[in-house]
Amino acid sequence: MPQTVLLTGGAGYIGSHTYVALAEAGYRPVILDSFVNARDDVPERLARLTGAPVSCHRADIRDATALHRVFAAERIDAVIHFAALKSVGESVARPLDYTETNIGGLMTLLRVMGEAGLHRLVFSSSATVYGAPQTLPIPETAPVGHTNPYGFTKLTCEQILQQLAASDPRWCFGILRYFNPAGAHHSALLGEDPRDTPNNLMPYLARVATGELPALQVFGDDYDTPDGTGLRDYIHVEDLARGHVLSLGALLEQGAGHLVNLGTGQGYSVLEVLRAYSRACGRDLPHVIAPRRPGDVAACYADPSRAADFLGFRACRTLDEMCASSWAWISAART
Ligand code: UFG
Repeated sequence: MPQTVLLTGGAGYIGSHTYVALAEAGYRPVILDSFVNARDDVPERLARLTGAPVSCHRADIRDATALHRVFAAERIDAVIHFAALKSVGESVARPLDYTETNIGGLMTLLRVMGEAGLHRLVFSSSATVYGAPQTLPIPETAPVGHTNPYGFTKLTCEQILQQLAASDPRWCFGILRYFNPAGAHHSALLGEDPRDTPNNLMPYLARVATGELPALQVFGDDYDTPDGTGLRDYIHVEDLARGHVLSLGALLEQGAGHLVNLGTGQGYSVLEVLRAYSRACGRDLPHVIAPRRPGDVAACYADPSRAADFLGFRACRTLDEMCASSWAWISAART
């Protein structure tokens, strides 16, 4: 009998890729998603990709009654909690919404899980908890902080989980600090295609490549980096998805809680990503140099060694593969 894993936010960008990776690893994933930031046809695409019907519950993570109903209907063994709001800029404008959905949503979920006698959860955290990093590459032991409400919610959620684990040994958490997820599923059936103008580099470049946006604005070329533009640790979303499968395995098989970075350890500049995307789509994408974006740091990349030692996780896909899969996905989505 396969183990059943509830994916909150399972129809979203990272959730949907993790769904496929879990199904391939022999788990039975179940989705709970409000679809505020996910496409309606994702469950159908997941069914095509996995060759099996998809169990999908349309509900908000803050809705305790709906959560109780899902836990009663499905025999759930563990939860991977993706459901959250994730735009830094939006969080500055709407801090209460971020507190309510990200922190309130986690609180509701933990209460319902506890009442259902379920204590294993993988949590989507972010390198944003390192604030402005003081050491590079960044190990998990680096100081944490926040510079915006989104970062505040992720850090607070981590701390809530750590306090809960310390209070009762039945609770066991995998906290995954993502660096910069990028790329799309190799089938071109899943990927990132935000409803509004994208904030993040890779989906923005995808829209420049399709011609929907005129040019990339490079936010600052006077940073203390080799070419003056920001350095980030881009990780292919299929590698990231595999990290979740390994994290879940550590929780379910060894009862081993952990907090790990999921990144490659390699930083690429904005101009390097622009060139890689241009290679992928076969033309030089236009760009203009714009002022620095408030809140950005010069460089942010992971020390990935704890994930390697603890989970046996190594991100193996290259920046070129991220750009090529993103381009294949957006091209398919526009035809
Ligand atoms: N950038 C541009 N132009 C754009 C968009 C981005 O030049 O139109 C640059 C940024 O200045 C930065 C790099 O591209 O140097 C990456 O920017 P992203 O917005 O793609 O990603 P960030 O590193 O700013 O943030 C991401 C997530 C956050 C998360 C953080 C963790 O969006 O949620 O990684 O490191 F907190």
